[in-house]
Amino acid sequence: MQEGRLSGKVAVVTGGASGIGLASAELFAAEGARVLIVDRDAEAGEEALRRLQGAGQVELLVADVSADAAPELLARTALERFGALHVLMANAGVHGRGESPAERFDAAAATNLRAASLCAEAALPHLRHAGGGSVVFTASVAGAVVGFASPQYDASKAGLIGLTRHLASRWGRHNVRVNAICPGFIETPFIGPHWTEERLQALRRDIALGRTGRPEEIAQVALFLASDAASYVTGAAIVADGGWTIHFAKYH
Ligand SMILES: NC(=O)c1ccc[n+]([C@@H]2O[C@H](COP(=O)([O-])OP(=O)(O)OC[C@H]3O[C@@H](n4cnc5c(N)ncnc54)[C@H](O)[C@@H]3O)[C@@H](O)[C@H]2O)c1
Repeated sequence: MQEGRLSGKVAVVTGGASGIGLASAELFAAEGARVLIVDRDAEAGEEALRRLQGAGQVELLVADVSADAAPELLARTALERFGALHVLMANAGVHGRGESPAERFDAAAATNLRAASLCAEAALPHLRHAGGGSVVFTASVAGAVVGFASPQYDASKAGLIGLTRHLASRWGRHNVRVNAICPGFIETPFIGPHWTEERLQALRRDIALGRTGRPEEIAQVALFLASDAASYVTGAAIVADGGWTIHFAKYH
């Protein structure tokens, strides 16, 4: 049998029950990894497990990553079930809704930034023990440019890009690479129903490739960053947006 690009690796994917996380978990498993999906949505998690049956060795941990005990729990669970940890894809994300700016800030920061940071910290000793590893954060183009999201969401994703650089700088000596993906507009349940076909058509005109993205296309970037193919890539924030945010203005 041909070796997969993640053969022998153990990967944890947070927010792995849907969208980008699910597509990444599926691809990681297809490339030989044993994958622990972590998601707070138990029903979607079970559905994801059913979908991934036969894709490889995939297990589910139902947990809210923003809970204080979650980062240690997910690292421990990966160790208990698979005996090691080589890849953390901290991907769970929320819009950060709430009545007041304070509620929106706390909601966005708790999952998108604080939990991602604490999950990475909890994973570090195990990545080091394995001789090195890869942390992949799902940030967003919203961390670099202003689009449709709330200021609190944008700030949380900008923070995540800053975190990527800092951890990459500190953890490189342990052979732990830390990178972020900045997806553009990817068609997942994250995109609300207010995105009517008419609005989507207008949006697509602003994207160089003329279309929105698919979660599987972001999963390919995650696979690259997770795998040894990216052995000299750390501290990067890779934009995968079909050429959306390259425009200051369009004259053609
Ligand atoms: N879809 C896009 O256009 C887009 C663009 C840029 C960035 N992103 C980012 O990509 C990531 C994945 O988004 P998606 O589009 O796949 O969305 P999605 O809604 O399809 O999937 C997100 C998953 O994360 C889970 N989740 C959310 N908060 C959680 C928590 N606190 N604990 C555990 N699980 C939690 C949800 O239950 C869901 O299964 C997010 O970080 C999002 O901000 C998405």
